Amino acid sequence: MENIVSIESREQHFDPGPTIIGNSPPLQSVLADVDRVASTDSTVLILGETGTGKELIARAIHVGSRRRNRPFIRLNCAAIPFDLLESELFGHEKGAFTGAVAQKIGRFEMADRGTLFLDEIGDLPLALQPKLLRVLQEQEFERLGSGRTHQINVRLVAATHRDLAEKVVRNEFRSDLYYRLNVFPVTLPPLRERRQDISTLVFHFVEIFSRRMGKVIHCVPPETLAAFVAYPWPGNVRELQNMIERAVILSNEGVLPNPLPQLKGQAHCPVPLSTFRDSERAVIEQALRETGCVIGGPSGAAARLGLKRTTLIAKMKKLGISRPGPERSAAMFSHAEATPWWSPHAKRDYGTA
Ligand SMILES: Nc1ncnc2c1ncn2[C@@H]1O[C@H](COP(=O)(O)OP(=O)(O)OP(=O)(O)O)[C@@H](O)[C@H]1O
Ligand SMILES: [Mg+2]
Repeated sequence: MENIVSIESREQHFDPGPTIIGNSPPLQSVLADVDRVASTDSTVLILGETGTGKELIARAIHVGSRRRNRPFIRLNCAAIPFDLLESELFGHEKGAFTGAVAQKIGRFEMADRGTLFLDEIGDLPLALQPKLLRVLQEQEFERLGSGRTHQINVRLVAATHRDLAEKVVRNEFRSDLYYRLNVFPVTLPPLRERRQDISTLVFHFVEIFSRRMGKVIHCVPPETLAAFVAYPWPGNVRELQNMIERAVILSNEGVLPNPLPQLKGQAHCPVPLSTFRDSERAVIEQALRETGCVIGGPSGAAARLGLKRTTLIAKMKKLGISRPGPERSAAMFSHAEATPWWSPHAKRDYGTA
């Protein structure tokens, strides 16, 4: 059950939420929508290809809401056999059906005053769709085998990689439920439509996996990075993440090999050597240049790189990047900073990078 249902109580720890990397305009527009809708109680429908980060966004919506200290309950509608799905959603009383040996609380009850994330909603069987519609409209339901009506207060976030509108046309999805879910759609762009996020994601995952595996990666050959940026990524960020994990496992002497099939064998470090630190430094310096050295705030370098302001400052310290002084960059400082880099007022952060 672990892979299909995760229940997290937010009552004990402050949860900074998931780390969402990327600063391309399409992703930033999604994050702006997340900001707008998170604090409301409205239903959100997250659409997008597999691996684009739909679950990450669902968690960000929960963490950005007033319900953040209440449970975030996830149920994958595609991973549970039809017979069990109804009781997973609504619970059952002892003896409600053969095999119901004890009372069971459903996901709606568990999510009371919190958020219920129904993943793969496009795979919800037609027979269950009117029941879901009723709970969403009335905020009430009965456990299987019970006549007692339970009132709940649940915020629904649903996701699917399927084209729900097309499923409605094919009579595979009820139009009334579709309209009820489609209050605030958020569509995640595929990675091939936001290629400028790829380098930052590569550095992010290299850092995670090398730390996890206790390996040091000091060189990402430029042609490897270029191949990553050019690849179409049908499996999106998940595929990139897995590819980097494989590359870190395969790495020798700190050089990240190119695990993509078409360029295999070319993963050597050319001379002059471009190290991982160099590439990371170049990306940060470019962001600083483009933002006039503003680090914090919505248009600062940290936001541009999809990093926390404090994370960027720590990286700059590690890489020995100092903000240029006024004598070196009068032009850069010709306009006032929106948010000084030392200010505690920072951009929206969904997590620690
Ligand atoms: N912008 C991002 N920054 C960092 N990690 C990301 C980003 N987008 C996705 N990921 C990572 O990629 C993986 C896939 O993301 P997620 O599970 O949210 O995708 P999904 O859209 O729900 O995919 P599926 O439709 O297959 O369920 C996760 O490990 C997630 O942490
Ligand atoms: Mg998912």
